[in-house]
Amino acid sequence: MADGTAPEGTDKGAIQAPYVSISRVGKTYASPRGAVPALVDISLDIAPGEFISVVGPSGCGKSTLLKLVAGLEEPSAGTLKVAGRPLKGPPDNLAVVFQRDVLLDWRTILDNVLLSIEFMGLPRAKYKDRAVALLQRFGLGGFEHRFPWELSGGMRQRASICRALLSDPELLLMDEPFGALDAMTRDDLNIELARIWQETRKTLLFITHSIAEAVFLSDRVVMMGKAPGMVVDVIRIDLPRPRSLASRETAEFVEYVARIRHHFAELGIVKE
Ligand SMILES: Nc1ncnc2c1ncn2[C@@H]1O[C@H](COP(=O)(O)OP(=O)(O)O)[C@@H](O)[C@H]1O
Ligand SMILES: [Mg+2]
Repeated sequence: MADGTAPEGTDKGAIQAPYVSISRVGKTYASPRGAVPALVDISLDIAPGEFISVVGPSGCGKSTLLKLVAGLEEPSAGTLKVAGRPLKGPPDNLAVVFQRDVLLDWRTILDNVLLSIEFMGLPRAKYKDRAVALLQRFGLGGFEHRFPWELSGGMRQRASICRALLSDPELLLMDEPFGALDAMTRDDLNIELARIWQETRKTLLFITHSIAEAVFLSDRVVMMGKAPGMVVDVIRIDLPRPRSLASRETAEFVEYVARIRHHFAELGIVKE
C-alpha cells in the first residue's frame, strides 16, 4: 500500500514491494588516468520506512552509491528504481544531507531551511511555520534569524537536517552527516535522528564510517569491501526500539559491533 502498511487480513510478515530497488548496479567513472571502477554488481532492496546504513572503507564507493540513488549520477550497469519507477534524474520525493553542511553564509538559518522549498518552487509562506517548528524540535528555537557562521558545527548540521525534512520527503539520504562532529554532539544527533525516524518512518539510506553508529541506528547494516565497492554482507540488527545510548552497552549491541568489525578484519580492512 502507498503508506507502507499491510492491508487488513494480509500477512504482516509478507514481503513488501521495496521502496528503493538497486539491481546489479555498477559504476565506472571516466578519469584522465583511465576508467575508475567504483561499484561492481551491487544489489540491494530497501523496504518502505526501513533504516539502512552502509559502512565500508574510504574510497569503496559509498558516496557513489548514494549519488546513484539520488539520481545525481547514472549507473554504468544495472537498474535503479525508487517507488517502483526506474530512476531518471533526481526523484522529487527525496532529500540529501551531506557531511559538509551546505548552508549559505549570507542567509539566516530560517532562510537556509526554506531554501529547499524555494528550489522546488513551493510557496515559502506555507512552509515557514513548519520550518520554525522543525528548528524548535532540533533545539534551534531562537536561532532562526542567526547566520550559519554564528552556529557550531553540530547546530549547522541540525539545520541541514531540518532543511532536508522540510518538504517531508519519503526518502532521506545521508552521507556521513555526523563525520565531522565531536563525539558528544554526534551522540546527541544519533538520538535525535533515531527519534525523528521512529516518528516519521522515512526510508533512510545512511552512510557512515562508524560501525557503532550504523548498529545503533539501523534495521540493517550493509557492509562494503575494499574498492571497487561490492556488498560483502548485510546484517539485520534485531535490537529493540527505541534505542537509548545506554543500549550501546548491552551484550547484544557489543556483539553486533564485534561481528561486523571481525568481518572487516578478516577482509584486511581493519586491524583486530
Ligand atoms: N567524479 C569522479 N570521477 C572519477 N572518479 C571518481 C569520481 N567520484 C568518485 N570517484 C572514485 O570512485 C571511487 C569511490 O569513491 P566514493 O564513492 O567517493 O567512495 P567513498 O564515499 O566510499 O569514500 C574512488 O576511487 C574515487 O576516487
Ligand atoms: Mg564518501
